[in-house]
Amino acid sequence: MPMPTERLRDDAPSLARAARILRAGGLVALPTETVYGLAANARDDRAVARIFAAKERPRFNPLIVHLPDAAAARELVLWNDTADRLAAAFWPGALTLVLPLKEEHGLSPLVTAGLPTVALRVPAHPLARAVLRESGLPLAAPSANPSGRISPTTAAHVLAGLDGRIDAVLDGGPCAVGVESTILGLAEGGGARPALLRPGGIPAEALSAALGQPLAAAPASPETAPNAPGQLASHYAPDAPVRLNASAAREGETLLGFGPVDCAVNLSPSGDLVEAAARLFDCLHALDAMGAGAIAVSPIPETGLGRAINDRLRRAAAPRL
Ligand code: TXA
Ligand code: MG
Repeated sequence: MPMPTERLRDDAPSLARAARILRAGGLVALPTETVYGLAANARDDRAVARIFAAKERPRFNPLIVHLPDAAAARELVLWNDTADRLAAAFWPGALTLVLPLKEEHGLSPLVTAGLPTVALRVPAHPLARAVLRESGLPLAAPSANPSGRISPTTAAHVLAGLDGRIDAVLDGGPCAVGVESTILGLAEGGGARPALLRPGGIPAEALSAALGQPLAAAPASPETAPNAPGQLASHYAPDAPVRLNASAAREGETLLGFGPVDCAVNLSPSGDLVEAAARLFDCLHALDAMGAGAIAVSPIPETGLGRAINDRLRRAAAPRL
């Protein structure tokens, strides 16, 4: 049943309103530095269930829990030295850590999909931090888009996908990073190497430099097998089909460029990966809005943020269900 979606802004009454909605079990889309998240009280089963309903997620994927600081994380999980070093270096920021849950964690089992681990992140965006502070709640928040579609990096993107399905959206302008957080698995115990479960806003190179060792590859699964296109679930998908590593557009295609190429929409004419990540989802939304029939994408180098960009583009190009 459609509901009116409140538009909230960056002011004290709006922040208080967002916190009140969340405490009452409602859904608020809010800006983080990576993408907009669809937040709910992570301790409330009904509220978390509403996230899956609003996004029409086909499966109960586990969700990331957003917290104000590392101290709040330590209350929920079995913390270790590696987590300590990473949190000191990268929180608040675009890094999510997967750690074993303590027994008395109090989170809804829907958040963890029944796993003995949980994904935790301390976001840097001032509005996300303000809502965490005002509400006093751990907030479960996947990206605020219908399941399988392009992630939102503006409040307008959120409304395009979820208007009438969520209680409110808090407008904090465009997201600075533009791709989701990097997810590291630390659940194997102190001795094991951290595993890169999803490339994202913090480059893998920066993480291995901070740790003084290379990251382990993620265990193969449909969610985390970026090099096996046949196994990839379609995700981040625009309306049009997507062809990667294109040197030029073919008949009927619109080129999404990178670097100095002749094209309608360019991720970064100067070939800057940080700019390209920040613009990625907005460019895909723009290509949909232009009515592009088919999208060809320039090659993007597989280094730094290029890994996260290529991961999202491979999923956008994966066969649709
Ligand atoms: O930047 C971000 O991470 C954004 C913003 C809103 O914070 N959130 C986000 O959430 O991307 P979502 O739900 O779209 O992605 C969550 C990912 C999923 O791929 C899920 O499989 C993984 O986190 N995940 C969650 N809990 C996990 C766990 N216990 N073990 C392994 N992976 C987990
Ligand atoms: Mg998502």
